[in-house]
Amino acid sequence: MTPSDRFCNECHNWPIVRIPGPSVFRFLRGVREQGLLDCAGALWREYGDLFQVRVGWRTLIFAMHPDVVEHVQVTRKERYAKLDSYEPIRKYLIGNGVVASNGELWRRQRKLMAPFYTPKGIQAYADMMIGEGARFVARWDELARSGREVDIAQEMTLVTAAVILKAMFSSETIDSINQMKDAVETMLDYINARLVRPQLPSWVPTAMNRKYNATRRMVHHSITSLIEQRRALAESEWPDDLLSRMMKARDEETGEGMTALLLRDESLTTFFAGYETTARTMTFAWYALATNPRVRARLHDELDRVLGGRAPTIDALKQLPYTLQVIKEVLRLYPAAPFYPRDAVVADTLGRYDVPAGASVMMSPYYTHRHPEFWRDPEVFDPDRWTREREAARHRYAFHPFAAGQRTCIGNNFSLLESHILLAALAQRFAPALREGYAPRWEMRGTLTLPGGLPMIVRPRAVAAAA
Ligand code: HEM
Repeated sequence: MTPSDRFCNECHNWPIVRIPGPSVFRFLRGVREQGLLDCAGALWREYGDLFQVRVGWRTLIFAMHPDVVEHVQVTRKERYAKLDSYEPIRKYLIGNGVVASNGELWRRQRKLMAPFYTPKGIQAYADMMIGEGARFVARWDELARSGREVDIAQEMTLVTAAVILKAMFSSETIDSINQMKDAVETMLDYINARLVRPQLPSWVPTAMNRKYNATRRMVHHSITSLIEQRRALAESEWPDDLLSRMMKARDEETGEGMTALLLRDESLTTFFAGYETTARTMTFAWYALATNPRVRARLHDELDRVLGGRAPTIDALKQLPYTLQVIKEVLRLYPAAPFYPRDAVVADTLGRYDVPAGASVMMSPYYTHRHPEFWRDPEVFDPDRWTREREAARHRYAFHPFAAGQRTCIGNNFSLLESHILLAALAQRFAPALREGYAPRWEMRGTLTLPGGLPMIVRPRAVAAAA
């Protein structure tokens, strides 16, 4: 048996066995003491690439091997869907938007929206992203002059929230970026609290429920009135943003567009899915650059040579491959979504292992990306892993920061373009330095997080003139 046959169903005829794993008590104690991320890492070292735990009526199967990523999301994708695991997100956050829907609804919505996010489709947003990069350079000029410490995670959230709001609504007028950002945080905290321990139903007027319900009403009202304002204009006057594209999209077969409810859910979905993940990626890029001086020097060298102090352009990005390699390496070592689940619709097997119907298979980019069979010195931050040859030689599913198969992140091109532009614009002018003695603690809180933020001082750097 070769390592890659391990989870192949057709390769052997062994008796089917139960996936090994710890008791629920041990698992919950581990999560309480170490956090989910470190606890899963410790269990991986103990049990190997596949282990399971029963929590109440749910079976959680942690899967670290790329063959399982392929099996669940590609070769046997019809056996898995987004069922119970996604219920809290569906119910409390984004309704039936494309992240959480299934079946025909998902297929139709994904098909309607896919053209907005192709490499060509996202070019429409490049100038806006470049503009936001320039605005942020001006903001950081001020910060650099003040010399005061800032939370880089907050800074990156501000810029990515501005980008997604402009891409969706052509403006930040959904009352203001900060209001929307705070609303998202309130709603995310709410579902995180519900996931951690049972809570009273949302209609019971506890302080937490009241805050959540008021925030949700505000967000729904803001989006619905934006849609109504748009409808009040002649279609020829609609700006070319994601909302207009969604409102114009028609099903090829039926000629039908999206209902008002779906438009609201898809707008919410795009906002929730589209800014925090990119903000995290950019935040972790600053951490990686501050702690890897050689990589930083090479990045600066590329930026100085190609841009020489000028703002990046779409054409210039093609000459900035190392900048993109840095971003891919950030996505490998610090994937914004360290875990994401898929629920077994029917009973299945992974090689000789039993997957009961209803079990949730936890895909783990964070650990697949550190798997020693596929990554040499996995803890080392090395953007040279991302040369074309080395990428081609690797297991196709050893890297899945955007998930895999038909439910791959629809916004992956968008976020790579955005990160490429922002990193080029900011890193050529600034080299943020970490607070002396800062030691990161990585945690999974919905997304990969540095609790307490990332304290840094934004330092200016001298730009060498372009050759
Ligand atoms: C670095 C940035 C990003 C990362 C790491 C990321 C990661 C992911 C992952 C892991 C999934 C699968 C989630 C799951 O199945 O539960 C996903 C799905 C999705 N993402 Fe992203 N994402 C990013 C940026 C974006 C952006 C910018 C947008 C929109 C503009 C977006 C929109 C979506 C949507 C709509 C889905 C659902 C796709 C489907 O199920 O058909 N994402 N993303």
